[in-house]
Amino acid sequence: MNPDTWTVPRIRALKGKQRFACLTAYDYPTARMVDRSGVPLILVGDSLGANVLGFESSLPVTMEHMLHHAAAVVRGVEQAVVVADMPYMSFQVSVSRAVENAGRFIQAAGVDAVKLEGGQVRVPTIAALVDNGIPVLSHIGLTPQSIREMGGYRVQGRSAESADQLIADACAVADAGSFAVVLECVPPQLGEKITESISVPTIGIGAGPACDAQILVLSDLLGLTEGHVPKFARQYATLAVDIQNAVQSYVADVVSGAFPAPEHTYSPDA
Ligand code: KIV
Repeated sequence: MNPDTWTVPRIRALKGKQRFACLTAYDYPTARMVDRSGVPLILVGDSLGANVLGFESSLPVTMEHMLHHAAAVVRGVEQAVVVADMPYMSFQVSVSRAVENAGRFIQAAGVDAVKLEGGQVRVPTIAALVDNGIPVLSHIGLTPQSIREMGGYRVQGRSAESADQLIADACAVADAGSFAVVLECVPPQLGEKITESISVPTIGIGAGPACDAQILVLSDLLGLTEGHVPKFARQYATLAVDIQNAVQSYVADVVSGAFPAPEHTYSPDA
């Protein structure tokens, strides 16, 4: 095996030793670029619903959408562990449905692991997936598939009661066999407490600097998002503006006749 290849056990072993960065990717070219940056884990998030497919949330995203994008990402990745997000209603209905759908991600798309939202309530599902050889990344805190129940995209764990529940959730999913836990939108003190309470890496998104790892949505990092940028994201580029400027320059060049220039045309001679 290439020594640069990441595996689930290698990622789990980073706990307490080395902080690491994770990113989402949704297609072949961006997956290649992200993979070459050396990140250990690439998530094909159901955030592709809003970032790629034009949906208002992740709720309309289906297994078919996810399989299509996950397979493209896998084709672009040589080193990172690729994790596919289990979309809404692909794992909630029954444990056997969850195992079947997770198995499709492994067999048909070739991913290394799946992610699923939920804490204690998901323990039987996580245990069944792990028993079937499918590594699981858990996701607690703000879980976007539950926005209806949460009343929107709200910071979680602000009250003592909900903080205690999230600590119990993190311990339960880690004990059930999850190899890491995504913590979304919780106060940094709680992010730290959960990180200290479990023996697998926490991967924070809006959960403070004490988490073992951080994850961002690639579109937020690259400035591809034209609308609201979440408070937890840092934009490292402004590609939406750059793309729009490039397209406008091309359109203007075609209209003025500046493009195509002689160097873009073929000579009649062979
Ligand atoms: O869908 C997604 O991209 C996610 C990350 C924000 C963790 O769940």
